[in-house]
Amino acid sequence: MNLTPEQLAQFERDGYLFFPSLFSRTEMKVLTDEVPALYAQRRPENVRERTGDVVRTNFAAHMYSEPFARLARHPRMVEPVRQIFAEDVYMHQFKINGKMAFDGDVWQWHQDYGTWRNDDQMPEARAMNIAIFLDEVNEFNGPLMFIPGSHKLGVLQAEHDTSTTSYPLWTISHETIRKLVERGGIVAPKGPAGSMILFHGCLVHASTSNLSPWNRVSVYLSLCAVSNHIRRFKRPGYIAHRDFAPIQCLPDDCLLKRYDVPLPWKDGTPAEELQGILRAA
Ligand code: SIN
Ligand code: MN
Repeated sequence: MNLTPEQLAQFERDGYLFFPSLFSRTEMKVLTDEVPALYAQRRPENVRERTGDVVRTNFAAHMYSEPFARLARHPRMVEPVRQIFAEDVYMHQFKINGKMAFDGDVWQWHQDYGTWRNDDQMPEARAMNIAIFLDEVNEFNGPLMFIPGSHKLGVLQAEHDTSTTSYPLWTISHETIRKLVERGGIVAPKGPAGSMILFHGCLVHASTSNLSPWNRVSVYLSLCAVSNHIRRFKRPGYIAHRDFAPIQCLPDDCLLKRYDVPLPWKDGTPAEELQGILRAA
């Protein structure tokens, strides 16, 4: 899938692109059918909400789940990013965020590149997220909110928030958010399961809690230009990957047909990937 000149100009201006219903319901079912078994596993890749046993985010499923290993190589997700960077990309992070009915907690305002730079020493903002909705996203189940154009401001001052949710994040002050919103407003792309969002590593984003009875499961691939790989392995390898090999895409029908994919962590996460290593990459 190639982005048009108009889409590239829109991405440059707004910092994101939205593709409603890019994947079919049949393609999404292959993935959603797999999520309960993944979330039920007792492994460190499942980070749970503060309130109990509900999964907030699952990391690195593409290393041990066959359908997600195929998604991680899907040309509709990988090629637009490769086109923007004009370079091969590798998987910096892979996560399935639950935002489960009634329990899904907030994600405070942040930029992903703030974390990638502060924690992982990623040299430049040549990495971005490409998200896919496994469930419908509506105004009630905690849609992702963006401040359009905020990616142009580079890395903003952030504080390490280790208390408001169960997952540590470099977050931006409410005073800064107020100013950014005065200038750019807020948008929240909503749509059916199978919709995709591509967004810049510096785009400021957040989401509220999910008080609705509907899950809002979404998958995020964080793809980084190979030359821009992280220089520090402070975080566990299952959160910030250390394999910088370029992603080799599968054919476009890879969610509907079986293709051989490696599942190196199927029988457990290697010990060296479970913790940080304080040394240069
Ligand atoms: C994120 O910013 O990484 C996740 C936000 C969300 O899933 O709402
Ligand atoms: Mn984020």
